[in-house]
Amino acid sequence: MPTAAEVIAARTSLRPRVGVVLGSGLGAFADTLNDRTVIPYGEIPDWPQSTAIGHAGKLVIGVVDGVAVAVLAGRAHLYEGYTAKQAAFGVRTLRALGVESLVLTNAAGGIRPDWTPGSLILISDHINLLGQNPLSGPNDDSLGPRFPDMSEAYSRSFRAIAKEVGHSVGVDLHEGVYAAVPGPSYETPAEIRYLRAIGADLVGMSTVPETLAANHMGMKVLGISCVTNHAAGVIDQKLNHTEVLEVGERMKGTLIHLLRRVIPRLV
Ligand code: HPA
Repeated sequence: MPTAAEVIAARTSLRPRVGVVLGSGLGAFADTLNDRTVIPYGEIPDWPQSTAIGHAGKLVIGVVDGVAVAVLAGRAHLYEGYTAKQAAFGVRTLRALGVESLVLTNAAGGIRPDWTPGSLILISDHINLLGQNPLSGPNDDSLGPRFPDMSEAYSRSFRAIAKEVGHSVGVDLHEGVYAAVPGPSYETPAEIRYLRAIGADLVGMSTVPETLAANHMGMKVLGISCVTNHAAGVIDQKLNHTEVLEVGERMKGTLIHLLRRVIPRLV
């Protein structure tokens, strides 16, 4: 049986150097690549299928400004019943294809009251509250060390590049700490007060398994959260997934613009 990476490599002559994972409602970027090859996840062995609404479920390989890029439009989450290891499968496959720089995007709740829906925030660090780690179990020494360092899980230099690009296109990019929770229920106001107390600025249900696997394999990560809503209890308003998708839709132009300019500088 060919591996996922072998099946993908046989479908395109492009050898991607940058990988991008698109979060809820943020899939449009994939359709802007030049010289696209589209591979539905169902055609790749072992690939976890996307079941969440707002996640397309396809790998798109193409070119941005001369740089070959692999884009995951749709990811696997723990709330779908997947393990952290399955959630990291796509990133491991990208590494096997030769990708060294990774951009992880997500939709997140804003814990800081001044981060209103529509804000784009660079992830400076994370807190793993998933209760799982994709690196648990026997270590594959060919991928990385047993006890990988996480002191700069989100590359400082990549954040500096993103801020510089943001500045040049008029997008003010702040930084914050992302807390990953398993979901699928949104948090209670008490849980948000707890997350704020432990140092979180953003809350979401993804990204951390991919970041852990990427750092294990020596990849550099840029994390971008799209604040789609105030976290529970920050303002007196209920949360729903439709709002999350709508804000993602509203932000897609800005995100595409930013990604197209940032990606060529990550190689
Ligand atoms: N909580 C958790 N995940 C999310 C949220 C939220 O408020 N918004 C978007 N993803």
